[in-house]
Amino acid sequence: MPRPLLAVAVAALVLALAGAHGFRIEEASVDSIQLGFNNGSLTSVDLVRFYLDRISRLNRLLHAVIEVNPDALPQAARADAERCSGRHRRAIGALHGVPVLLKDNIATRDALNTTAGSFALLGSVVRRDAGVVRRLRRAGAVVLGKPARQTWTSGPTSAASPVAAGAPAAAGAGMAAVTLGTETDGSILCPASLNSVVGIKPTVGLTSRAGVIPITPRQDTVGPICHTVADAVHVLDAIVGYDARDATPTMEASKYIPHGGYMQFLKKGGLGGKRIGVPSGFFNFPNGTVQQMAYAQHLNTMRKQGAVVIENLDIENLSVLLDSQNNGQQIALPAEFKLSLNSYLSNLLYSPVRSLAEIIAFNNAHPVEENMKENGQTVFLVAENTTGIGASEREAISQLNKLSANGLKKLMREHELDAIVTPNNAVSSVLAIDGMPAITVPAGYGKLGVPFGLCFGGLRGYEPRLIEMAYAFEQVTMVRKTPTFLP
Ligand SMILES: *[C@@H]1O[C@H](CO)[C@@H](O)[C@H](O)[C@H]1NC(C)=O
Ligand SMILES: *[C@@H]1O[C@H](CO)[C@@H](O)[C@H](O)[C@H]1NC(C)=O
Ligand SMILES: *[C@@H]1O[C@H](CO)[C@@H](O)[C@H](O)[C@H]1NC(C)=O
Ligand SMILES: *[C@@H]1O[C@H](CO)[C@@H](O)[C@H](O)[C@H]1NC(C)=O
Ligand SMILES: *[C@@H]1O[C@H](CO)[C@@H](O)[C@H](O)[C@H]1NC(C)=O
Repeated sequence: MPRPLLAVAVAALVLALAGAHGFRIEEASVDSIQLGFNNGSLTSVDLVRFYLDRISRLNRLLHAVIEVNPDALPQAARADAERCSGRHRRAIGALHGVPVLLKDNIATRDALNTTAGSFALLGSVVRRDAGVVRRLRRAGAVVLGKPARQTWTSGPTSAASPVAAGAPAAAGAGMAAVTLGTETDGSILCPASLNSVVGIKPTVGLTSRAGVIPITPRQDTVGPICHTVADAVHVLDAIVGYDARDATPTMEASKYIPHGGYMQFLKKGGLGGKRIGVPSGFFNFPNGTVQQMAYAQHLNTMRKQGAVVIENLDIENLSVLLDSQNNGQQIALPAEFKLSLNSYLSNLLYSPVRSLAEIIAFNNAHPVEENMKENGQTVFLVAENTTGIGASEREAISQLNKLSANGLKKLMREHELDAIVTPNNAVSSVLAIDGMPAITVPAGYGKLGVPFGLCFGGLRGYEPRLIEMAYAFEQVTMVRKTPTFLP
């Protein structure tokens, strides 16, 4: 991709910047990038060139980025020109000129494809940018590309699936300053934890889902995956808010958005006075393992920072809550998926496929490309069989709501908790069914160097206090290490 001349220029740039006070682009924070822009040592074009080169080199190993935006360099040049002209002075925010990667289910009305990893959607044309992308562009961010397309035959991403790994792997490997992911049940929290980066899963409705290839509007949410809590909060600030194309949920959730935005909650003392619950059933690591020792130490650290940490709390019906076969999700989700996906497909300006039925037929016709042997498409077949939200779906949704009301919501109220802490994405289903938010922060590295995270979860609208706790925890532990790649 980069021509030899460009590669030489990039190499020179890296050398030049490496000399400057240990500033390393691939780990650079949004704040230090803005500092570089303002003090003249860095331009947006430099940054984009650096990342394009890094993507082309690391991609052979990581396959993390599938498409780069041919318009990224011109966008960066425009951002540089705007900054120099001073014309947009007032409008220049933290993300101005900053390259972002978007998960491949977030629509962009540009040269990039939006496929959610399915060849069936390659060449489909969206009417407009997704709501979150419009906000990012308004903030002056540069759309750098989209993380790995992988086959979509297995249907909705499962918590443990590598399908969603593109964005966090790219973030972890320093292939973009910031990235955006989406979560239905774990797809931000899990890969962020496993890549030693920070993921924010916002309250459902806080960020617009318009133009995002859906699984279920009841649970889908868009959020940042970045190196640091501060970077993720910069992105959150840029993407939250009302969107007429996702009107009711974004209107409803906009009451949670604090005046002055979320950056004010980055407080070093943010753990002080917080009541943090540790629900039973999640930290089942044998004594003496790295995880067990690290998490025990983290709880002590939080206590030392002034938090009240309450252990051994029981979430009522936890085993049912975590069991998607029995909690109601298995009935509600397929029907919601079919309805919302068909609606997305029918709204496209052009598409090779216009319905779930046509995607199923496409997969049958392209079994090799879609890895049908490994994945099958049971989830799609089950969804195609549904006929809308009927009596059994309504009953399932009301069971989910009841489980949540008697489960985590009741526990948090009874103990006046500001958050619960759990490992990685272990609690994601409990949060997912009620649209609740969470932030995962790097918490350690296991035996083979595999990272793990600590997740702060709370009730809808708890982002301000979750940010306080996550930021204070991050600042006092500083667990994340710059990744090294084996040859
Ligand atoms: C300019 O910004 C860069 C990048 O943030 C930083 O490393 C460097 O120290 C800054 N130089 C001055 C003189 O402030
Ligand atoms: C989008 O997909 C088409 C069809 O495969 C391809 O030709 C094009 O290069 C893709 N766009 C980008 C930016 O990679
Ligand atoms: C782990 O250690 C703690 C305290 O040392 C002890 O109370 C507990 O029983 C041990 N658990 C197991 C599973 O060995
Ligand atoms: C679809 O529904 C029919 C009739 O209820 C049933 O026999 C079939 O097993 C279902 N298929 C799937 C994949 O669920
Ligand atoms: C939760 O468990 C209690 C008993 O512990 C039971 O009475 C109740 O029906 C359960 N709630 C749901 C929604 O399953």
